[in-house]
Amino acid sequence: MSLNVIHSISDMQSISNALRKEGKSIACVPTMGYLHEGHASLIREAVKHHDIVITTIFVNPLQFGPKEDFERYPRDPERDIAIISAAGGKYVFIPSIDEMYPPEYQTTITIGNISKSFEGLYRPGHFEGVATVVAKLFAATKPDAAYFGQKDYQQTLVIKQMVKDLNMGIDIQVIPTLRESSGLAMSSRNVYLSPEEKKSALVLQSALQTGLSLIREGIRSRISIEEQMKVILATCPEFEIQYCNAALGDTLEMPDEFSEKDEIVLLVAGFLGKTRLIDNMAWSGND
Ligand code: PAJ
Repeated sequence: MSLNVIHSISDMQSISNALRKEGKSIACVPTMGYLHEGHASLIREAVKHHDIVITTIFVNPLQFGPKEDFERYPRDPERDIAIISAAGGKYVFIPSIDEMYPPEYQTTITIGNISKSFEGLYRPGHFEGVATVVAKLFAATKPDAAYFGQKDYQQTLVIKQMVKDLNMGIDIQVIPTLRESSGLAMSSRNVYLSPEEKKSALVLQSALQTGLSLIREGIRSRISIEEQMKVILATCPEFEIQYCNAALGDTLEMPDEFSEKDEIVLLVAGFLGKTRLIDNMAWSGND
């Protein structure tokens, strides 16, 4: 079967309703397009567990700040469609901005504490935009499950909170971050980086690895972990740090001292030249 490309919300809903009536399980993989292997890994994982996988492509203006890169965000739907097919996806939902946000549109979803720290501090309104668009994409695709990347760690917590609070009954799956062979986390925004910047960007992953090693050695003082990570980040003066923290994996709270059983996530974000980079690594006591 060739790929089904759907543009209208009502067509998408009719197709999903019909598939559900046939007893098919549906997974949704929301994306902003310009797909890479990281996105493909979400689609492949979804294909393993569900009859139908609907990948969505929509560069959501609501989640970009006024000074951010909405206009220049890379776009290549034809290449995306080839990547989706190769990963085993059979359905793509590509709505227009007007289809998602017609002139009379009025609703925004706001999520509490979990969306206020980290990305929420540096990108005001970002998670309102993410939650609102994801809720709309879920309403269009009517999935049983949805797949998200650990790359956007806080995003996964925000979506889980929304799904729980609004009783959406959708199973949220989180897939590990796919990295280039250098260790750089794959991102659609990596196309903005020059070859030199790509090398400099590796400092994020070095800092995170250093933090993980300290945790593995038994260090539980948050400040000690963060200071060591910052020492590594300082080796790359071009990287302008926004945050570099260790936090509780489920709430993103930051106690002075972690306990032995805590799941810990290390989170780093900042600018390399004009490009904003984020990365994280989580430790759950098993590695
Ligand atoms: P986008 O940045 O296109 O990412 C789509 C999905 O791919 C997200 O769940 C993201 O975490 C995941 N992803 C990105 N890079 C990855 C990598 N290297 N390895 C594994 N997964 C990766 O995140 C968004 O779009 C938007 O905020 C969206 C949820 C679509 C709402 O607009």
